[in-house]
Amino acid sequence: MKAKSETNHAKGSLSEKELLELESRYCSWGDTVHYAKELTFFSEANGSFLYDRKGTEYLDLQMWYSAANFGYRNPRLNAVLKKQIDTLPQLACQYLHEERVLLATKLAQRIERTLGVKGRIHFNVGGASAIEDAMKVVRNHTGRNHTFAFMGGYHGRTLGATSITSSYRYRERFGHFGDRANFIPFPYCFRCHLGLKPETCGIACLRQFEKMFESEYYSVVNPKNNKSEYGAFFVEPVQATGGYIVPPKTYFKELKQTLDRYGILLVVDEIQMGFFRTGKFMSIEHFDVVPDVIVFGKAMTNGLNPISGIWAREDLISPQVFPPGSTHSTFSANPLGTAAGLAVMDLIEDEDFETTVPQKGAYFVKKLEALKAKYPCIGHVGGLGLALRMEMCRDDGHTPNRELTDAIMNIGLSGTLTTGGKQRGLILDIGGYYKNVFTLAPSLYITEEEIDLGVALFEEALQRALKARA
Ligand SMILES: Cc1ncc(COP(=O)(O)O)c(C=O)c1O
Repeated sequence: MKAKSETNHAKGSLSEKELLELESRYCSWGDTVHYAKELTFFSEANGSFLYDRKGTEYLDLQMWYSAANFGYRNPRLNAVLKKQIDTLPQLACQYLHEERVLLATKLAQRIERTLGVKGRIHFNVGGASAIEDAMKVVRNHTGRNHTFAFMGGYHGRTLGATSITSSYRYRERFGHFGDRANFIPFPYCFRCHLGLKPETCGIACLRQFEKMFESEYYSVVNPKNNKSEYGAFFVEPVQATGGYIVPPKTYFKELKQTLDRYGILLVVDEIQMGFFRTGKFMSIEHFDVVPDVIVFGKAMTNGLNPISGIWAREDLISPQVFPPGSTHSTFSANPLGTAAGLAVMDLIEDEDFETTVPQKGAYFVKKLEALKAKYPCIGHVGGLGLALRMEMCRDDGHTPNRELTDAIMNIGLSGTLTTGGKQRGLILDIGGYYKNVFTLAPSLYITEEEIDLGVALFEEALQRALKARA
């Protein structure tokens, strides 16, 4: 029989201190919870806000790393999910249900309308799993394992996805279970890898990539038959974890010309930037280029019962070349996830995010620029749509300042800000090559008042961090 203390843990009956004791004993610390100095429990969410157990309100400027683009507890999306729970909540993925077919149809038709190319959708559960499926499609079509990926790129933490994710820290203790990607510098113009200026460089980093194909001795191609050892280039059109970095407008169009010459597929990871984060359904739409494979996740279901998926060109994924059983997961295309995904597709058809997101983004950037003008430690602000960035630096405006960034994040998370006469918190996420970039991903429904509040709360946190440093 179980001891009483083992079973007496009903929801709501324990204090935060008791829960933390259980957490420290029974939860793995291998995820990212313990990045924060102090741990916070949340018990409610609504719109742009999270609430802790004491009822303190936190304005969320990262929305679950852009998974909850359409706001917490979005009534329209939640209603669809509730209905699905009461009709067909479970179904083995080997059987069909309407939502699965309609969601694939809506995605494929939208992509065909936008890019002018026919393709199909294959579902999975998480972002990294969908990346692995994309790797299979590439290998199946090209027969090649080797890939290019970007320095600063992040594609997830399964073993395959880690092999194309640039951070060595993520691979260090786990080894290489696939062929590690060849990592190419991303056009990160504020911190150019080559030390050049965007006004005069002529996209020198891209020219360097092109040069790799000039001679077999640069290791990537056999010029006698034009065959490359590389099957694909996996890219985030706007680097997400890397720090919401927007590349020059022509970069991907020019890159694709080189890739096409050698039969290298362009795989676009839209997991974080898709579903209107940048003001377009897919962030690649900003760059006038047609990818071969596209990967979706996160906001596809607004973070409800997550599913992910890939779109691939018909010749890469038709039943003749990618037959039944090529890849599968028990929970892929599950009825709750596909119902939520279909509701998201219906929602975006009814809304005009293509207009509202750039408008809100422009308003937000204007406010951030005003802050930058006041504080020399803000080195760069910008972004695309509502994928916004703020680089925290030393007072020279360029040397990364990770300590200041962490201090501001922790003050926000402490829920002790008082701007506006009410105690509040601010939820911020940190990214960037030097972990000094606030990657801001607010709800796409954020109001101007909430933006003003966010900027004011940020300024209070910044002032407190600067004062503590002085
Ligand atoms: C661009 C990108 N790709 C892939 C992933 C991995 O997705 P998941 O965490 O759902 O496996 C992420 C997650 O942050 C991401 O931002």
